[in-house]
Amino acid sequence: MSSDDVSHDASASEQGAGETRSVNTGRRYFLIGATSAVAGVGVVGAAVPFISYWEPSAKARAAGAPVKIDISKLVPGELLSPIQAWRGKPIFVLYRDEATVASLTEQPHDLADPDSNNETMQPEYAKNPTRSTRPEIGVYVGLCTHLGCSPKYVVTENFDDTKQGGFFCPCHGSKFDLAGRVGAGYPAPDNLPVPPHRWESDTVIVIGEEGGAA
Ligand code: FES
Repeated sequence: MSSDDVSHDASASEQGAGETRSVNTGRRYFLIGATSAVAGVGVVGAAVPFISYWEPSAKARAAGAPVKIDISKLVPGELLSPIQAWRGKPIFVLYRDEATVASLTEQPHDLADPDSNNETMQPEYAKNPTRSTRPEIGVYVGLCTHLGCSPKYVVTENFDDTKQGGFFCPCHGSKFDLAGRVGAGYPAPDNLPVPPHRWESDTVIVIGEEGGAA
């Protein structure tokens, strides 16, 4: 598939640095699990019919206002749904089970940047094997580092040699593990970004504010 084949529907978008990135949430997001969200927080693709009502907060979010995400209903193996937005970007919050954490920590596989040496892709507090402030909870910007499509969360033991699943970008086939690390040799040049974030409590994450662990 060429880059011309990449559709850019307007469910969620980001404009910056001279380019516009958009994602088709309806087609590309693989949503699983229970709903868990803080009232008033942006939800990717859900606010279009209420655009005039939501416009002020949308502007605030676009300007970089922090976003609180409640993960109290998230369980191991789930990706938080509906997917929240921060600065117009989808935020993946993944609750990894013990086997996944062990796999990410103990079983290095063929990755482009296994040690997160590209410092622009995560804060210092997320430079570790799970690229997170808590081993079980991963927080990533859900946009492929190739051309900005939104990868799908895939749960299958055949995904890669970790047998734990990962994120798959259907646009050009890039695969990321469950720490958002891209496999070697795929079009995406970098791991999924980890946004600045801090824990406000055991179950509430604030995206857009530095702080790391609670
Ligand atoms: S946008 Fe091309 S592989 Fe993800």
